Amino acid sequence: LENGVNVAFQVNGAAKKVLVDSRMTLLDTLRERLELTGSKKGCDHGQCGACTVIVDGRRVLSCLTLAASCEGKSVKTIEGIAQGNQLHPMQEAFLKHDGFQCGFCTSGQICSAVALLDEAKKGEASYVTENVRKKPTPVSLSDEEIRERMSGNICRCGAYPNIVAAIQEVHSGKPVEQT
Ligand code: FES
Ligand code: FES
Repeated sequence: LENGVNVAFQVNGAAKKVLVDSRMTLLDTLRERLELTGSKKGCDHGQCGACTVIVDGRRVLSCLTLAASCEGKSVKTIEGIAQGNQLHPMQEAFLKHDGFQCGFCTSGQICSAVALLDEAKKGEASYVTENVRKKPTPVSLSDEEIRERMSGNICRCGAYPNIVAAIQEVHSGKPVEQT
């Protein structure tokens, strides 16, 4: 393989080693080499968030991330969000609040939301959304802040109120009435 590079990394807790073209994105590697097609290719240009995965605890756009840059890192995709047969609370909340229609954006939304709540716990800045990149994520999130910090994840179906309600419910730990 011309420009071939071996990448050894963890994907959803399992050690993986793949020989990829050095220019291959993490998104294409996941989808085409590791048969993990839950991460979606919406735009392939960092505009839509459908490809969002979690690398070493931080959300990244896998279409803008080279697989080779993930050497030694730990990648989590939507396929690794549930614990065994037990859905992640964020997945349960998306179901409860109808946080999706066609579902194309959903794996990216859920990965982004899971990492967002970790950012809030640790007071870290968002890594997806350019306009909030430098601001630490507040521990207490208003709906407005959730919207802002999820603004890198586009939903063509317009499920935004349901998505915000789902995230707020997991974040606050209290049932959220949908408006
Ligand atoms: Fe990566 Fe759209 S496919 S941001
Ligand atoms: Fe269809 Fe979001 S549910 S794009």
